[in-house]
Amino acid sequence: MWAVFLGAPGCGKGTQAQKVSERCGIPKISTGDILRQKVRAGSDLGNRAKGYMERGELVPDEIMLGLLLDRLNTGDTDRGFVLDGFPRTLPQAKGLDSLLAEQGNSLDVVIYFKVNPQLLTKRLSARRTCSKCGAVYNLITNPPSDERVCDLCGGELLIRDDDREETVKGRLKVFEKETAPLTDFYESKGILFPINGDGGVERVCRRIEEVLKGKWPREKGYRLKGQS
Ligand code: AP5
Repeated sequence: MWAVFLGAPGCGKGTQAQKVSERCGIPKISTGDILRQKVRAGSDLGNRAKGYMERGELVPDEIMLGLLLDRLNTGDTDRGFVLDGFPRTLPQAKGLDSLLAEQGNSLDVVIYFKVNPQLLTKRLSARRTCSKCGAVYNLITNPPSDERVCDLCGGELLIRDDDREETVKGRLKVFEKETAPLTDFYESKGILFPINGDGGVERVCRRIEEVLKGKWPREKGYRLKGQS
C-alpha cells in the first residue's frame, strides 16, 4: 500500500504513520525526520535546509524531490510506504506521482487529518522528542515518566526548535497556503480520505484503520494486525 498522510503541523500524522508502519510492515518515510537527521549530521543538504526549517518555511521542491528519490532508491519500499510530511506542494505531488509511475506503482490512499486549529498549537507546545531514538511524547496526552528523559532509551527529551510559538504560527500559515490545496488534487483522483484527527491517539488510529481496511487491497497479500 502506498499511502500519504496529509495534514497541518501537529495533526498527529507522524504518530499515526508510525503505528500504521508497525501494523502493516511497511516503512514510514518522514521527510521532516530525514531533514533533521541531515541537519544534525551537518551534511551539505542539512546545511542548505536548516534555515528554512528554523523559519518554519518549506525547503525548496528540488531539494525535497532529490531527497525523496534517494530514499525510494534504498530498496525497502517494494510493498509500499506511509509518507509523512510529503508532498507539501503541487510540484512535489506531481513529482511523487512520476517517481512512483517509474517504479510501476501509484498512490492508493491519502489520509487527510482534520483537527481543530486550537488543538494543533496545544499539541505542539507540549511535544517532546527524544534526541537519541526519535520517540515522540506529549506532556499532556502521552507524558514520559520523567519530563527530560526518554522512557524507551534514556535519551534526552528536547523541544523541537520549530515548535516555538512564533514559528508554529508561521508553519500553520504555510500549511494553509501551500499544502492544504493538495486536497483538491487528490480528491480529483478519488483517493482523498478525510478523517477526524481530534480525540485520543487510539481513537484516531481506529478511524484510519477503518479507511485502510476498506481500501487495503487484500489480494496483494497485505494484512492489518487482526485481519484474517
Ligand atoms: P515535519 O517534521 O514534517 O513537521 P510538520 O508537518 O509540521 O508536522 P509535525 O511533525 O509538527 O506534526 P505531526 O502531524 O507529525 O504531529 P505528531 O504526530 O508529532 O517538517 C518540519 C519542517 O521540515 C517543515 O516545517 C519544513 O521546513 C521541512 N519539511 C519537511 N518536509 C518537507 C517537504 N515535503 N517540503 C518542504 N519542506 C519540508 O503529534 C504532535 C504532538 O501531538 C505529539 O506530542 C503527539 O504525541 C501528540 N498527539 C498526536 N496525536 C494525538 C492525539 N490524537 N491526541 C492527543 N495528542 C496527540
